[in-house]
Amino acid sequence: MDRSRRGEVDPFIVMDVVEAARQAEEAGRHIIHMEVGQPGTGAPKGAAEAVARSLAQPLGYTVALGLPALRQGIATLYQRWYGVDLDPARVIVTNGSSGAFLLSFTALFDAGDRVGMGLPGYPSYRQILKALDLVPVGLPTRPENRFQPVPLDLPDLEGLIVASPGNPSGTMLDRDALAALMAAQKRGFVSDEIYHGLHYGPRAVSALEISDEVHVINSFSKYFSMTGWRIGWMVVPEDHIRPIERLAQNLFICAPHVSQVAALAALDCIDELEANRATYAMNRALMLEGLPKAGFTRIAPPDGAFYIYADVSDLTTDSRSFCAEILAEAGVAVTPGLDFDPSRGHQTLRFSYARATADIQEGLRRLQAFMASRAP
Ligand SMILES: Cc1ncc(COP(=O)(O)O)c(C=O)c1O
Repeated sequence: MDRSRRGEVDPFIVMDVVEAARQAEEAGRHIIHMEVGQPGTGAPKGAAEAVARSLAQPLGYTVALGLPALRQGIATLYQRWYGVDLDPARVIVTNGSSGAFLLSFTALFDAGDRVGMGLPGYPSYRQILKALDLVPVGLPTRPENRFQPVPLDLPDLEGLIVASPGNPSGTMLDRDALAALMAAQKRGFVSDEIYHGLHYGPRAVSALEISDEVHVINSFSKYFSMTGWRIGWMVVPEDHIRPIERLAQNLFICAPHVSQVAALAALDCIDELEANRATYAMNRALMLEGLPKAGFTRIAPPDGAFYIYADVSDLTTDSRSFCAEILAEAGVAVTPGLDFDPSRGHQTLRFSYARATADIQEGLRRLQAFMASRAP
C-alpha cells in the first residue's frame, strides 16, 4: 500500500540513545541518565492520593474542554504565577502539550503555511507541522541572543513558535525580547511555556502577560513531574475556544479523566514541587561547575528547565558517535544536538540534570575521568 509523504517524519534521535542505554543496562552496566528530558521524580503525592480516591468512580469521558474545576484551577495558577486574571473559559485541557500542539497548529494554520521556530529547538514542532502538511521554517539562533530568535531573524511567516525557557538551551526570552517578537509576528503566535515554574533566577514571562492574541501551551509534564500522565493545557483567544472544542471533540474526545483528577490535585502540591525545583537548582550549580572542569567549556547559561546545551566543536564533528563513545566509555547517556538543530547539532550535546543529585555527582565524576583519559 502507498504511504503519504507527510507521514515521513524524522525519528527522535534521543530515543536511540535511550535504547542504547537500556541495552547497556541489560548487559549489566550501570548507566547515569543525562539524556532524558523528564524528572526522576513521580507525580506529587497529593495527585496520587486523589487518583486513589477517584478509582471508585466510573471515570468516563469528560467534556472535551476538560473538567471545569481543573480549568478553574489552571486559571488560578495564572494569577499565582503571573498576576494575570484569566477567564477559565479560555483554558483547554489537552493530552499533554503534544496534544495541544496538534489542536493549535490545526486551528491556526492551513496546509502549506510557513511556521517558524528557533534552532536549536524542540524537534517535535517540526515533525508535527510536517505531518499536518505545514512548512516548518528553522531559524538559526545565536548565543548572543540566548539561543532565541529575534525580530530581525523573521522571514515572512504565517506563524511562529517560541519556547522560553527553551529545550535544549534552557535559555529564556525576557519580557522585552518576547514582546518584540510578538509585535513582529502578530499572526499565528504560539508560546510553548512547558518549562514555566522551573527557573533559577527571575521567573519566565508568559506571553499572556503581553497579549491575549496568542496560543499559550503548557503541561503537567515538567514542573508538575507528570510526564506519563499525558496531561497539559492551552490558553487561547475567546473566539478560538469553540473551533478548538470541535477539533478536540473529534480528535481526542477528552484528555484522560484520571489524569485530570491527578492534575487538579497537583496544582496544590506546592511544597513538593518546590522541593523538586530546589533539587534541580542544586544539580544545575553542580553541572555549571563540573562540566567546564571536564572540558565542556562552551555552554549556554541555562535560565530554566533542566538542560545544559554545550558546543563541542572543539572536541568533535560527530556528536552522535561522541555520545556513543561517552556512553560506552564513561557509562553516561547524553543526547547529541542533532534532534534540536539538524545542521549545527553535529557539534553540540544536551545534558539533562533532572535526576537525583547523587546521580549528577556521579555522572560528572565519570565525565571528568573520561575526558581526562581522552585528552592528548
Ligand atoms: C519544549 C517542549 N515542549 C513540549 C514537550 C512535550 O511535552 P508533553 O507532551 O509531555 O507535555 C517537550 C518534551 O520534552 C518539550 O521539551
